[in-house]
Order: sequence, then structure tokens, then C-alpha cells
Amino acid sequence: MSPEQQAALKKSVAIAAADYVAANLPKGSILGVGTGSTANLFIDALVPIREKIRGAVASSKATADKLTAIGIPLFDLNDVDVIPIYVDGADEIDPGFSMIKGGGGALTREKIIADVADQFVCIADDSKCVQTLGRFPLPIEVIPMAVAQVARAVSKLGGKPMLREGFMTDNGNQILDVSGLSVSDPVAFESTLNQIVGTVTNGLFARRGADVLLLGTAQGVNISRRA
Ligand code: 5RP
Repeated sequence: MSPEQQAALKKSVAIAAADYVAANLPKGSILGVGTGSTANLFIDALVPIREKIRGAVASSKATADKLTAIGIPLFDLNDVDVIPIYVDGADEIDPGFSMIKGGGGALTREKIIADVADQFVCIADDSKCVQTLGRFPLPIEVIPMAVAQVARAVSKLGGKPMLREGFMTDNGNQILDVSGLSVSDPVAFESTLNQIVGTVTNGLFARRGADVLLLGTAQGVNISRRA
């Protein structure tokens, strides 16, 4: 798929996601908004329906800035009890709706909002669909003093960690991108990675995967729900 085709699919899925929010977000409630190029297009698509949205919790500073620019009020997650819908992209999604996320480095805040949300709506073009997660290098957010130690631990699990050079997360941490993985049991592997001291968050979203997938294809946007 060419970059232009992929951009067109991202845009179509972003518009479909805004329609989904207009139809399903209860009046007066707070929306969770993800990070990345697809999420940015989704924010653009919210402009015509922004009056229907009381406010949003953003998964990154970049997303917060974009939401503010279109006039959607921001809420601190600590002041919000319920997020009926969280909309975000993915780097990979498997048939069970487990995902790899964090290509944009916002995985920790994304995983926190996803955990609070009643419904995770994944928006993706169909190049993101895989049978087995792992083709996309798995991002892990790491406390800076633990980078070498976490890299050793991940190598023992069969991964090839690479420091994301010149990048700092919104939380002041670093990212290891781990290639060479084939994640046959995402829930178990997410739990294994969670045990590595010094990691903040790993980019496997399996214990809390997506509930709904809006998938952009050349034939249109398909909506499916986790079985
Ligand atoms: C950011 C993410 C993004 O959702 C993921 O990287 C997909 O990005 P894009 O929509 O640009 O392809 O997890 O941390």
C-alpha cells in the first residue's frame, strides 16, 4: 500500500470513528483520545460534533494541544470516574484484538486511559492487521537508569532491544523498541514483561485489548467487535 493510500484509509476510519462517537457517546460524558497520525485525523473529524462532547482525557501532550486547538475542554483523569469510549490507533492488531501500541511513544498514558474506559475503539488501516503480533518492534517505556538492565532482561526473552535515540516520553522516560519477537500468547507475554523491574509500561495491549475495531480497507470501513 502506498503512503497516500494508507493516509486515505486512515482518514476514512477517522471519520467513521467520529460518527461512532456521535452515535454512542452518552450526552455529557468524557471521551478518551489516543495519540498518533490516525488519532490526529480523528480529532480533526470531531470538529463538526464537538458541541456534543463535554470534554476529553488526552493520552499525550500532543493530543492535548490538538484537542485544545479545536475547543474541546481537557479533563485530568483524576477528576473523571467514567470514560465510556476511548478511541486510539494501533501499530498492530491481531484476530483476538490484542495490539502492539507505542509507536508514537505515548503507550503509558494510553494504557492507563484504556484501563479506565468502558469501551476501547481501535481505529486502524488494514495494514495493521497481523495473525501474530511482533513484526512491529514492541515499545517498552523504561526508567532511564534501568535501560541497560531492562535491555538484558528482554534479550533473555528472545527480543532485540534498541534504544529510541533522542526521544523522551511525556513522563520523562526512555523507550526500548524490541524487535525479533513473535508473540503467540499476548496476555501471558504482557504479564511476563510487566515483571521486569525498571519498565514503566510495555506496548502489548492484550490484558485490555480493543473491544471494537474500525478498520479502513479499500472497500470501505469495517466495524467488528471482539468475539
Ligand atoms: C502512539 C500509538 C499509536 O496509536 C500507534 O503508534 C499508531 O499510530 P499511527 O496512527 O500514526 O499509525 O500507540 O503511542
